[in-house]
Amino acid sequence: MPTNTAPVSASFVARPWRVGLIGFGCVGQGLYELLDQQPDAGFYIARIVVKTPDKVRPLPAERFEFDAEALLNDETLDVLVEVIDDADAAFRLVAEALRRGRRVVTANKAMLARHLPELVQLQREGQGTLLYEAAVCGSIPIIRTLDAYFSAEPLSRLTGILNGSSNYVLTRMGEEGSEYSSALAEAQERGFAETDPSLDMGAFDPRSKAVLLAAHAYGAFLQPEQVLNLGIEGISAVDIAFAASQGQKIKVVAGLQRLPDGRVTVLVTPQLVGPESPLYAVDHEFNGVVLEADFAGEQFLRGRGAGGHPTGSAVLADLAALRQGFTYQYSKAANPPTYASDLEVEIYLRTDEDRIIDLLDFSEISEEADEDEYVVGYVALENLIRHRDTLRKYGAFIVRTGRLRPISVASLAEEFSA
Ligand SMILES: NC(=O)c1ccc[n+]([C@@H]2O[C@H](COP(=O)([O-])OP(=O)(O)OC[C@H]3O[C@@H](n4cnc5c(N)ncnc54)[C@H](OP(=O)(O)O)[C@@H]3O)[C@@H](O)[C@H]2O)c1
Repeated sequence: MPTNTAPVSASFVARPWRVGLIGFGCVGQGLYELLDQQPDAGFYIARIVVKTPDKVRPLPAERFEFDAEALLNDETLDVLVEVIDDADAAFRLVAEALRRGRRVVTANKAMLARHLPELVQLQREGQGTLLYEAAVCGSIPIIRTLDAYFSAEPLSRLTGILNGSSNYVLTRMGEEGSEYSSALAEAQERGFAETDPSLDMGAFDPRSKAVLLAAHAYGAFLQPEQVLNLGIEGISAVDIAFAASQGQKIKVVAGLQRLPDGRVTVLVTPQLVGPESPLYAVDHEFNGVVLEADFAGEQFLRGRGAGGHPTGSAVLADLAALRQGFTYQYSKAANPPTYASDLEVEIYLRTDEDRIIDLLDFSEISEEADEDEYVVGYVALENLIRHRDTLRKYGAFIVRTGRLRPISVASLAEEFSA
């Protein structure tokens, strides 16, 4: 392993920035390697903090220390990069750094989704700066695109595949006709899914990312629980076959949408996706985001959503942005929209439990197949939010067709597509 040290004669005109790196796992090591390959990038890792003293590491032991507080106190560090896997500890560190007016880069989407309003407030009070491009879709530059480029343009919709692990499982099920458990086992073997896959497969991880996107795309600061997240743990080969029979694929899609009345809604669920959508071709571990802007029209970004180098690339981009004085503006938060959940969602539900169908209280059923145990129809979004844990517990599988409508309106004329 090479050693990233201060360049002796950097061609960079300004003094290289001293980076304090907290966490040396997948992302931390990825960043280290990128900077090692680019000694003139203008940054070098001055100090590294990790947690476990006796772990075997690819760098000499003297490169590591174990007290993150010491980095907060080190005024010679120009920027702190927080890439640890503990959301509570990450929040304590990042919040304290911002209180002290420090520049911070983080990749921790779970921590950010839970604490964003507080962190934005701390930046305002403490004059610190926080950037987090790596937290959403790894290498895809979506946060900065929304915050800076589209700061003045309204967006009607944002749809994205924000989780590579579940996308890999769905892709392999589609390719092989295999069941969920074998596709998941393969994803784990190949390093595309965690040993505990629940955050990814249960759509908790993409929900955190959707919360961050909502802040930048619409100025809507949401708590994660407000956003419906349904996962793929209950999926079976028959569901993939149902989608294929209609020329579609099942993808876990985060959908952020401005409604005709100006309110905004966010849903993160499996969804039928047809070939007309750029997301149809986002397969395996890739992520993709389609944004629809009022004047620019449709734009599509696709790329690697995880992994040391793709995620390290986004951290490096944040470091460079900080160096240029960039900060997030959250412009749309000056006039935040109302969040809407009084909607009806059209779903395909497969369950062998009649009580689930009763619980969801369909307002309209358009298709019912006893043999395959599925129902297609409209249910209240609030029912799905209220009963999501029960749905998960009983292995019910739900896919959105993409259609939404105001609650209690049976007329197709008032429908708006999602
Ligand atoms: N992996 C990805 O592709 C990816 C993509 C986007 C975002 N992220 C986010 O990036 C963050 C890091 O992910 P990762 O995959 O790099 O994690 P990881 O491989 O599990 O590594 C975590 C690192 O954090 C260190 N650590 C944990 N608690 C610490 C503490 N209290 N003080 C100091 N160091 C501590 C660990 O130390 P030891 O080495 O001593 O165990 C380890 O080096 C997470 O928030 C994750 O959600 C990851």
